[in-house]
Amino acid sequence: MSDSIPNLLIYLIIAGLSVAYFIFRKKATSPGLSEEMADVQNAAAEGFGASEQVFPPSAEFVAKARVKGMDGYKKLYRESIEHPEKFWADEAKELTWFEPWTKVLDESKKPFFKWFVDGKTNICYNCIDAQIKKGLGEKVAIVFEGEPTQNGAATEVRRITYKELLVEVSRFANVLKELGLQKGDTVAIYMPMVPELAFAVLACARIGVVHSVVFGGFSAESIRDRVNDAKSKAVITMDGGYRRGKFLALKQTVDEAVQDCPTCERVLVLQRHAGKPDAACAMKAGRDVWYHDVASKVSSDCPAVWQESNEMLFLLYTSGSTGKPKGIIHGTGGYMLQAYTTNKYVFDLRNDDLFWCTADVGWVTGHTYVVYGPLLNGASVLMYEGAPDAPDYSRFWKIVEDHKVTVFYTAPTAIRAFMKWGDEWVKKHNLSSLRLLGSVGEPINPEAWLWYHRNIGAERCPIVDTWWQTETGGHMITPIPGCTPTKPGSATLPFFGVDAAVLDEQGNETDSGILAIRKPWPGITQGIFGDEKRYIEAYWSRWNGAYYFPGDGAIKDKDGYLWITGRVDDVVNVSGHRIGTAELEAVFIENAAVAESAVIGVKHELKGQGLMAFVILKSAAAKTVNEETLAKTLNGMVDTKIGKFARPERIVFVSDLPKTRSGKIMRRLLRDISEGRELGNVSTLADPAVVESIRNKFNNK
Ligand code: WT7
Repeated sequence: MSDSIPNLLIYLIIAGLSVAYFIFRKKATSPGLSEEMADVQNAAAEGFGASEQVFPPSAEFVAKARVKGMDGYKKLYRESIEHPEKFWADEAKELTWFEPWTKVLDESKKPFFKWFVDGKTNICYNCIDAQIKKGLGEKVAIVFEGEPTQNGAATEVRRITYKELLVEVSRFANVLKELGLQKGDTVAIYMPMVPELAFAVLACARIGVVHSVVFGGFSAESIRDRVNDAKSKAVITMDGGYRRGKFLALKQTVDEAVQDCPTCERVLVLQRHAGKPDAACAMKAGRDVWYHDVASKVSSDCPAVWQESNEMLFLLYTSGSTGKPKGIIHGTGGYMLQAYTTNKYVFDLRNDDLFWCTADVGWVTGHTYVVYGPLLNGASVLMYEGAPDAPDYSRFWKIVEDHKVTVFYTAPTAIRAFMKWGDEWVKKHNLSSLRLLGSVGEPINPEAWLWYHRNIGAERCPIVDTWWQTETGGHMITPIPGCTPTKPGSATLPFFGVDAAVLDEQGNETDSGILAIRKPWPGITQGIFGDEKRYIEAYWSRWNGAYYFPGDGAIKDKDGYLWITGRVDDVVNVSGHRIGTAELEAVFIENAAVAESAVIGVKHELKGQGLMAFVILKSAAAKTVNEETLAKTLNGMVDTKIGKFARPERIVFVSDLPKTRSGKIMRRLLRDISEGRELGNVSTLADPAVVESIRNKFNNK
């Protein structure tokens, strides 16, 4: 008995110490924990990075793979990191340069990197002329299918060979010259997903005109802001295009936009549907011209201009954490190489492939993987104009079967829609032509990955889950098919030349934290148009400027695999489209009844994330306003100021927002409320009672 007393004491002390340790540990991490880290930890708690399932590449794929197994990948990866200049110079030599570069990478103006300094090239030449020189002139470059159908069959299918593409693009470039456009000018492009959109982009590139494509779902005000910011001299548009059986008039939206665009002198209008009453365009004399009127008079021969590798190729606007979208600049040579190599290695394109990337050319995915990347590889690419559910849920699979698509690249949001629509739509079609599948735009949930693997890939096709962004130009974290064993939900390992790390706020490597990229890669943006300072602040101000900050959280598992958890910077990925919460807040505040608002991203079954808006009314308005009517008005404002796709899921009117004593809105608490989680740390709140009242309002609906 007397012996056991000291033992008991020891146990008690140990137990006490352990309890104290856990209490202390919680205290040590939570109060200082940033919103960003809390988001990543929530994701970890929800199972990110936890899947143990591994899918090795099939023997069939391995046998033909460009890169031989994981050893092959590791060897090339090591070379690309240890000797990046040699690695990229070797890759760049596979493309055509009119004059060689003097320096592969110039870091002297970091973070404004220059690739292939003094090298002269032209990306359009590389996409078209160089392929014809290789003997691919008769090969189909673009297969196009319009949306309209008759008795279940598409009424418009076009096959455009490389030779025909050269004629179309050259003629288009001459039309641009006729309008007075010159190398270095910028034009906005607002068009449906038709081959002419690709012609327009390539024609600009051919003569060194900078293109700024604006996705066809954006409103007139969004076009206006983008045209003005870029000082675009012209807008290229079309009478309209088809979407879910409707003809959407685009020229009218452009008319509305360019009223307030002093730099825009010309509007070039292509014709999708002659003689259709709702396609009628009011043409403003002196400003507007029909494409076909000019095209009939110009030659179809137009030499490609020489561009120094770092001259601007395009601008593409994307959302950031302020109300104003950023004009992301891409140069010529580096971007071209990123587009070329990622297409080559990640989609493993072969001579007989038909590649279909379902993205709209209005987003970066369409730039790199509908237009430039596949053509740089001499591939055949499929363009489809319309919606996946027009005329019915099997449209995509019918297209795959009819055209024998071999490589298919889409977004998780689409995959979740297919799952919801039911397997029977897929089963109606023979998908045996497919050999490789891709995913992009947002984290793919393992359930969607597995569905894709089984139902579309027949457990045979590797899936490449590719993480990248507008700013990176091309893939950054992705499996290499035939090499990388995949795990559902993980983008796996970095692409060649990508030195990725997961860091905490102090810049220490960690298992769950913030994604960071150490070295420049060829496709890196050249900055934000007209705002060098914003570029440095948004992407290079953390960690003493030693890393590029992409704005995503990430988890690194025991095998070094990366699991992207989503944005950590007040940008929300809705159906793979990036929307800044501040952009919506800027819209709401324009309404006289609104005092303040906070918009957050919340989990959404189909869209991945949806937007949730919390709005405080001015006290006078709060007494009289009808919330339902006001919500409708606010949604209408989102439609006209941004575009319908940016509408929030719900607008909740509240009397206060959770703020710190210094007045910062704690959005994390709003996310906790919206996703039904226990509230995180509230000790820094000025008034902790506020969250309860918001929660009640939220739940009463
Ligand atoms: C953001 C970039 C990249 C082309 C389409 C969107 C998210 C993109 C993945 C992926 C997890 C992904 C990130 C990124 N994202 N791909 N495979 N897994 N997240 O381009 O509009 O510039 O958006 O999309 O959050 O930062 P973007």
